Amino acid sequence: MFAKAVAVSLLTLASASVFAADCSVTVDSTDQMSFNTKEITVDKSCKEFTVKLTHSGNLPKNVMGHNLVISKTADMQGIATEGMSQGLEKDYLKADNAGIIAHTKMIGAPEKETEVKFDTSKLEAGGDYSFFCTFPGHISMMKGKVVVK
Ligand code: CO
Repeated sequence: MFAKAVAVSLLTLASASVFAADCSVTVDSTDQMSFNTKEITVDKSCKEFTVKLTHSGNLPKNVMGHNLVISKTADMQGIATEGMSQGLEKDYLKADNAGIIAHTKMIGAPEKETEVKFDTSKLEAGGDYSFFCTFPGHISMMKGKVVVK
C-alpha cells in the first residue's frame, strides 16, 4: 500500500517536470555571435512560456552583447533597425515597439543569464514568428524560427 502510494507520487512528479520543461526553453549565446539553436517551439497548451537566455562567452555587453527578442518574422528587421539607434544604454531596443512580443534584457560577461516570461495568447498557432538579437549587426547570424503549436 505504502509502496504503491510512493510509486504514484513519483509518477506524478515525473510528469509534472516533463510538463514544466515544455513551457520553457534555454537558449545559449556565444562570443562567436551565435545562438545554439535555430528553432524554438512554443506550445500553446502552456499559459505562460519562459525563455532563458544564457551567455557562455567571456566578452562584455558593449562588445558582444546579446538579447533575445520575439516578433512576427515580418516585424523583425524593422525592430532591429530601430533598435540600433537606441544605443547600448537602452539595450539596442526600442522596447515600446508594438511589434515586440517578448524580449530579454541584453547581457554580456560577467552576466551569465536572464529570462523573460510571456503570455502565449500573444502568439497564434501556425503563425510566422522569429527570435533574434538586436545588437548592431548580430541579426545576420543570430536569428531563428519560433514555431507555435
Ligand atoms: Co547578439
